[in-house]
Amino acid sequence: MHLSLVQLAQFRNFDQVAFSPCESLNIIHGANGAGKSSILEAVHLLGFGRSFRTNRQNSVVKHETNIATVFGRLTDDQGVEQKIGCTRHKSEGFEFSINGERTKKLADVVRKIPMQIFTPQSSDLIIGQPVLRRRFVDWALFHVKHGYSDLVAAYTKTLSQRNALLRNYLNKGVPIDTQQFNYWSESLGRYGNLISEARKSYLEAINAQVVALYRQFIPEFKIDLRYNNGWDKGTSFEDSLKAKEARDLQYGYTTVGPHKGDIKFTVNGLSAAENLSRGQLRILVSILQIAQMKMFSSLSNKSTIYLVDDIAAELDEKTREHFLDLILETKTQVFVTAIETSQFEFTNKYNDKKVFHVEHNQVNEE
Ligand SMILES: Nc1ncnc2c1ncn2[C@@H]1O[C@H](COP(=O)(O)OP(=O)(O)OP(=O)(O)O)[C@@H](O)[C@H]1O
Ligand SMILES: [Mg+2]
Repeated sequence: MHLSLVQLAQFRNFDQVAFSPCESLNIIHGANGAGKSSILEAVHLLGFGRSFRTNRQNSVVKHETNIATVFGRLTDDQGVEQKIGCTRHKSEGFEFSINGERTKKLADVVRKIPMQIFTPQSSDLIIGQPVLRRRFVDWALFHVKHGYSDLVAAYTKTLSQRNALLRNYLNKGVPIDTQQFNYWSESLGRYGNLISEARKSYLEAINAQVVALYRQFIPEFKIDLRYNNGWDKGTSFEDSLKAKEARDLQYGYTTVGPHKGDIKFTVNGLSAAENLSRGQLRILVSILQIAQMKMFSSLSNKSTIYLVDDIAAELDEKTREHFLDLILETKTQVFVTAIETSQFEFTNKYNDKKVFHVEHNQVNEE
């Protein structure tokens, strides 16, 4: 799959720009502040329905205007052309369209373009909050496992019902309705086990790939990744829920379950977050994403789009080259940004590539 046309209007520093990327490697270069990350941000909106740079989503709208739009013409893996549109009103949130039809269902849009992004902040996947690691594994399951997003939705809804009873008990002294509470706990147990099993088997499946890839970069390190269920080791979720009931009542929310799940990364038996250098962390993240892409395409027979912002930040040239080689081995459309084209001399060996220069709020193909 690939985007053959990207158009932006009133997006960040751009008025109206359009460019036609190639199916494989697209290099976007320009000076600091030229708008390289903004271009990636616009493409990212088509794949994720949100910005990767900010939680204040309306900041993508160009100053002194009210509506930003991004349009992408996509050729999917069956060769069918699809038109994806995204509009951001300053005050009214996002609106999406697929082939001209408006939809507010973000999942419909996200499902169209499986996308990954690598930025200088990506090492947060290892050193940041557990939610980022849960998102990593859920991204893959969302795209490849039929019914997974419904399962997560059912779990989330049940969790909020159970939490409402706990919160009302804690804050307002409302006695717990035991029948209701047991009902929500049983449902939570059922959905929670399915989520955990799915996450665990997915991670077991990519583990070997991650270990092998990491060895290619740093042969002396043995990486391992393990899923932590989010409840006490050696017990079932149901038993753990029961055992933690008193604590849940005391805190006013459910303290165990897949919403507390995490992935533990170790190198030679030590915590990766605490022992790897910043560059090594980035290598680990890039490898996880490559393993994810490979697994994704083998399970779904689909390809992905990969965005790489500021590739030169803390990845040396040899690593950069190996990283891009591995990505381009898979059938992936790649967008990379860099300040200098000299950071990309090694890409001379690729024939299928386009170079874009961002300058004076314009994007020009070279
Ligand atoms: N809503 C907005 N309206 C207009 N201009 C904006 C808006 N948001 C950001 N900008 C400006 O857009 C420009 C492009 O920023 P961007 O982060 O895309 O640059 P960049 O090329 O990635 O730079 P760097 O090399 O420093 O990462 C900046 O000058 C920024 O101040
Ligand atoms: Mg940038």
